[in-house]
Amino acid sequence: MLNFKINTYFQFWQQNSMNIFTMKKSTLIKLITPVFAMFISFSVMAQNPGQKTSQRQRISINNGWSFFKYESNSQADKLIYDMRPEIKDNSEYIVADAKPTEALETKQIHAVLKPWILPTGNKFISDPQKRHVRPEGNPGSDFPFVQGNFDDSRWEKVNLPHDWAIKGPFQSGPNPEVGGGMGRLPVNGVAWYRKKLDIPATDTGKSVFLDIDGAMSYSIVWLNGNLVGGWPYGYNSYRLDLTPYLVPGGENQLAIRLDNPNHSARWYPGAGIYRNVWLVKTRPVHVAQWGTSITSKEVSKSSATIELEITIDNNSKKEEAAEVITAVFELDSKRKRTGKPVANFQLLKTTIAAGVSATTRSSVQIKKPKLWGPAPTQTSNLYLALTTLIQNGRTIDEYETRFGIRSVEFNPDKGVIVNGEHIQLKGVNQHHDLGALGAAFNTRAAERQLEILQEMGCNAIRMSHNPPAPELLELTDRMGFLVIDEIFDSWEMKKTPHDFHLIFPDWYEADTRAFIRRDRNCPSVIIWSFGNEVGEQYTAGAGAAMARRLKNIVTEEDPTRPTTSAMNFAKPDMALPAVFDIISLNYQGEGIRQDPEFEGTDRIRTPPQYNAFHARFPDKIILSSETASAFSSRGVYLFPVEKAQSAPVRDGRGGDSNIRQVSSYEIHAVDFGSSAEKVFGSIEKHPFVAGEFVWTGWDYLGEPTPYYESRSTYCGIIDLAGFKKDRFYLYQSHWRPELPMAHILPHWNWPERKGEITPVHVFTSGDEAELFLNGKTLGKKKKEQYEYRLRWDDVKYEPGELKAVAYKNGVKWAESVVKTTGKASKLVAVADRKSIVADGKDLAFITVEITDNDGLTVPRSNNTVEFSIEGPGEIVATDNGDPTSMGSFQSATREAFNGLCLVIVSLKQDAKEDIIIIAKSAGLKEARVKIERAVK
Ligand code: GAL
Repeated sequence: MLNFKINTYFQFWQQNSMNIFTMKKSTLIKLITPVFAMFISFSVMAQNPGQKTSQRQRISINNGWSFFKYESNSQADKLIYDMRPEIKDNSEYIVADAKPTEALETKQIHAVLKPWILPTGNKFISDPQKRHVRPEGNPGSDFPFVQGNFDDSRWEKVNLPHDWAIKGPFQSGPNPEVGGGMGRLPVNGVAWYRKKLDIPATDTGKSVFLDIDGAMSYSIVWLNGNLVGGWPYGYNSYRLDLTPYLVPGGENQLAIRLDNPNHSARWYPGAGIYRNVWLVKTRPVHVAQWGTSITSKEVSKSSATIELEITIDNNSKKEEAAEVITAVFELDSKRKRTGKPVANFQLLKTTIAAGVSATTRSSVQIKKPKLWGPAPTQTSNLYLALTTLIQNGRTIDEYETRFGIRSVEFNPDKGVIVNGEHIQLKGVNQHHDLGALGAAFNTRAAERQLEILQEMGCNAIRMSHNPPAPELLELTDRMGFLVIDEIFDSWEMKKTPHDFHLIFPDWYEADTRAFIRRDRNCPSVIIWSFGNEVGEQYTAGAGAAMARRLKNIVTEEDPTRPTTSAMNFAKPDMALPAVFDIISLNYQGEGIRQDPEFEGTDRIRTPPQYNAFHARFPDKIILSSETASAFSSRGVYLFPVEKAQSAPVRDGRGGDSNIRQVSSYEIHAVDFGSSAEKVFGSIEKHPFVAGEFVWTGWDYLGEPTPYYESRSTYCGIIDLAGFKKDRFYLYQSHWRPELPMAHILPHWNWPERKGEITPVHVFTSGDEAELFLNGKTLGKKKKEQYEYRLRWDDVKYEPGELKAVAYKNGVKWAESVVKTTGKASKLVAVADRKSIVADGKDLAFITVEITDNDGLTVPRSNNTVEFSIEGPGEIVATDNGDPTSMGSFQSATREAFNGLCLVIVSLKQDAKEDIIIIAKSAGLKEARVKIERAVK
């Protein structure tokens, strides 16, 4: 099925395409043990076997861009990638598990640039006959924005990573242009980024590349008025060779056009060049983009065999010979190379014909390797391979590959075994946005997300449903998470009218190969997922055939890791699941819509599936790639409290559509989902299941089921601002059984409920607890098998103090107290870190609490807080975690939500002083907190 009538000249080019690159053959040796590493490539002064004549340079070009966005699509230029189908139905509330539908056809009435863009993917298309030949001509060359002499002084000045939509405004109210699904933020439209590159005359003869880690979306790049290429899929990283269009010895004009469609995602995609951008300069003979692959086999504590494959590009006009040596170093906890090489790969000699690539291979044994393994039981040790290319005794390139040595076994009866230890997957799904910062990637913000997840006991992340920023995988490598790296939410069938299905037929191969080559060296990545709930689940043989094509691509690129695709519909007897190495179930393990109220619905209804899949696929491991999708709004408690677990949200049953909030008693889930505890129970009852990935770890922008008038989700265990919901402690009690803890809910400020039944629940890693109200015992309760909370459902509210004393095996284990507070009287500000680096990027996250005189957070307070800074700092964003809040994230004024709000600050680049953040609110004592300038 082809979704577009492709214009005839494009078909002509496709059919007549010639082989313009010689590609490496991706036939890696099948390894018994999976392998891993992460590449980084910037210039290093390393152990130098030859005289240096040219250094590889990797230069950040994030700063100093000019930005312009058309006010509406009708005003935008017509330099389009391709025609898109018209949107006929603007309604956007699509149930997450609705059946995807067939692509629409559209007519080609405008000239399109697609034929000039497709060749950018050539290096990732294995069949030379299928590669694209660039047509004659240079579209857009006469357009003013691509010219060096165009005056962009009135354009907005921005630094990357940049998300143009996050500053809003939110489109609240009925019939917004961008609906709740995509976050009610102005993501849609056409925009341009321009920057002058100063290229010295000494770069003559070098190869110069533009590396874009991610641009949302349909990016098209011109240099000095020449159309260079582009990449439509906003989540993939890509490289363009600027060399043919570059004029060394002065300014070169770079111009990038983005065209981000509305109705292109089920969540907030962000908009703009939202990840890092680099200029890479090398000699014409150099290690290719993502040009190393390091795998390990026969891994034990005493030794490991490391296999290295290096692809070298020769961009010169003549045959070149080079010698290749690679030394392996240990990395210390600060990721610095330590000591002498622990191993050296043998010297390789290679000859590369003009304009093509060559691949060399070698292996070496490392004695007593320091293995990479997941936290908290193992250590995430990393190595660095330094590859040096030598020509006539001179070093012409140096390239670093970071990697880890580990063995991963996928045991169908136990799950995942890393370095011999069974690791139960205690995972979460994460979308790519960073809350108030939008999609603009920030390493510290991502690290904070992971730190809070780790505190909860989480050890695994599913990158739903697209390739993450490369730095996020550097973090998972360093912090010791296991990762499912995922690329697509749709294939040929569509979920939203303008999603990836539009470009899937043209790009699936290039996107898939690029995705794997970039991430294949990361030790944290243990599984490749090439789909999520795709419509092809419903198309029997055709869907399975597509799945097989994708699987073959993945396996050709990396035969060491298993593949999967998440299924919410496919059943064991269908053709599709048989294709995958790993069975990944979304919600099917616990069963979908099994309550009697769903009888007769046309939505998916499925009885629990773990046993059926295990029986049909006894040799495959099964994991739950999406569980729960339980809902709650932090600090909101609604009455009455449901006795049963896992009920759907309805008005009066955990939900209130007037205020668009869901109760934090943590009992309710999406219609097709299950509560946290129902999942704990079903996984415990099926010990062959490798574990779960909760939907989701953090709240994210968009997809605000069950209230699409809101801006962000209710399913996170942690809210959008990073504040813990009660559910955090439920997971912590189950995932960190060794940590003594007890947590009481709800808060105890209910003046209007005196004498009324107000249930009290306790989450504890102990096995029993006694509850006291104002010193009087309300009884001891013990967890029965498959029970994960203790409930006192008949408590009559009286103000005062609730105390829970938890026991484990009869011995006192933990204690927790919740008190009725006094009136709000002051602000208390607490920063996540005392000092940050003065680079404009490092961030401090400061929580401001509305408290009473004794410093107790007043739970239902929503006072308006104003933030200011003394010293060379900036307020980057504010938030409160309320999914209904439509206040701008950039505002320095923010209402607290249930006692809390957040301000995110940075120190200006090269600031010389510390800063003080001041929080003020009418009638309350102000708070001040100092953030010091960190010494690098
Ligand atoms: C799943 C889907 C996720 C998300 C989730 C919401 O069906 O795979 O992307 O939409 O539902 O509960």
